[in-house]
Order: sequence, then C-alpha cells, then structure tokens
Amino acid sequence: MDFGLKGKTALVTGGGSGLGKGICEILAQEGANIVVHFRSNEDKVLSFVHDLNEKYDGNSIAVKGDLSREGDLNTVFDTACNSYPEIDILVNNAGVWPKAYVKDMEVDEFENTLKVNLQTPFILCKKMVNHLIDQKRKGKIINIVSQAAFHGSTSGHAHYAASKGGLVTFTVSLAREVAKHGINVNAVAPGIMETPMITNRMSEQKIQEAYHERIPLGRISTPEEVAYTVAFLASNKSDYITGATIDVTGGMLMR
Ligand SMILES: NC(=O)c1ccc[n+]([C@@H]2O[C@H](COP(=O)([O-])OP(=O)(O)OC[C@H]3O[C@@H](n4cnc5c(N)ncnc54)[C@H](OP(=O)(O)O)[C@@H]3O)[C@@H](O)[C@H]2O)c1
Repeated sequence: MDFGLKGKTALVTGGGSGLGKGICEILAQEGANIVVHFRSNEDKVLSFVHDLNEKYDGNSIAVKGDLSREGDLNTVFDTACNSYPEIDILVNNAGVWPKAYVKDMEVDEFENTLKVNLQTPFILCKKMVNHLIDQKRKGKIINIVSQAAFHGSTSGHAHYAASKGGLVTFTVSLAREVAKHGINVNAVAPGIMETPMITNRMSEQKIQEAYHERIPLGRISTPEEVAYTVAFLASNKSDYITGATIDVTGGMLMR
C-alpha cells in the first residue's frame, strides 16, 4: 500500500533512538522528509540522518534540543519551519520512564515526568496547530502514549502512567477542537518494545519474567512493528480517524 507520504515533512521528537528512530526510518522509507529531533548521541544521530538521505533519496535533517527547556522547544519547532515550507506531520514520541513508588516519589520527579511526557507534547501540538491553521492546510498529529495510560503502573511508574493517561485525554480534546481545520490527532499505545528505555534498565531475563506472561502474543515488539501504525496514522489512508488511540501491545492491553 502506498501511504502517499512522498514529499510530506514530519517532525519526530526523540527520533535518534528506539521507537522514534523506527518511526523516522519507516516515514523516510515512505518518501517523507524528516526533522529528526534528538538530545544526545549527536554523532550517531547525524550518521543515521545521513544514511536515511542516502537510502531513500530524501532531505531529512537533525535538530538538537532538550525538550524540558522552553527555549530549546522553540528552537526545534522554528528550525523545522525555517527548513521546510510546511510541516505536515508531528509525532510526539520523546518521553521519560523514571521509577519511584508513590510513597517515596519526589515532587520534582513527578513534575519533570509530566513536563516531558505531557507539557512538551501540548506545546508542540499548539505550535503545530497554529502552523497548519495559518497556512490553511490539513495535517496529522500522533502522540505516543502507553498501555500504562489504561492499565496504570504495576511497577513504580505512577507518574509515567498519569502523564500518558493525560496525553490520551488531551489527544481526544484536541482532536475535537481542530477537526474542523482538517487536522487529525491520534495516539498510539505501545505495550513493551525492545528499545533503550527497556533494555538499558532490564536484563532479557527480567523482561521475560516481568512481561512475557502478560503478553498473549508471547513476545515484546520491535520498534518497527509500532512505527508502521504511526505511518498509517500519518498518511491519508487514516483521514477518517481522529481522537483514537490504537493499541499495539501484542494483546497486553485489550479494552
Ligand atoms: N519501550 C517501551 O516499552 C515503551 C512502551 C510504551 C510506550 N513507550 C513510549 O515510547 C516513546 C519512545 O520511547 P522508547 O521506548 O523509544 O525509549 P528511548 O529510546 O529511551 O526514547 C526516548 C526518547 O526521548 C528522548 N527524551 C527524553 N527526555 C527528553 C528531553 N528532556 N528532551 C529531549 N528528548 C528527550 C530521549 O532522548 P535521550 O536519548 O537523549 O535521552 C530518547 O530519544 C516514549 O514516549 C515512551 O514513553 C515505550
């Protein structure tokens, strides 16, 4: 199926690793130019973007920024807008997954999680919506949430689950608000993926013990398996979908 993304431009946050990298790869493969936002591992990200352009004959760029800083947020979005005539797709993918049980959780940690996982997507959504309305163009916004938004946390991530639950509800509200402008806003809820967020923190054995029994399909996913759903939501094949959250969890979340 041709997703019709040739010539479109997408801004993907946290595009240098894990799911974000998978999303950049699939969107570029489908013909989009990508603004790959990243915070660390600059050399690796620049080499990734160089490879994307070689492989898919595209014009993708990398933009650095710490999204918990308002100045960096503005720079990332402004660089995207100054580098391309129009931005068609925004993927709010960057996120943090700190661990603390509520009885010990510091207020700072709660605040920072909400800031990166919920406030940052809000600010970028606001910028994107205004960009599209000013240009009188349609567009797509995809927010990456989590099965934890619906299940809650089972392992000391109540702040994370709350931030993702908030992002689901924000997605629905924004979808209602901007549908009249032809802007679709949806979310994708992964279950457990093989990305640095998980593999840097848990051994393969721990992942098996903690999650495999909870996943009917019996395995955790690759980032690409989730990225294809993001590409679908970024494409004109999903024009009649808005305010939805698509679960890509191997059955871990069924609702
Ligand atoms: N992995 C899973 O099992 C899973 C499950 C459900 C949902 N998700 C969601 O999937 C999304 C991608 O996560 P992932 O699994 O691919 O993990 P990841 O590889 O750790 O990706 C997270 C990305 O967010 C970036 N980031 C975090 N804080 C930032 C900040 N203040 N400023 C700029 N960038 C920041 C990270 O940059 P640095 O590399 O510089 O830290 C990294 O690129 C997240 O929203 C996560 O909550 C993941």
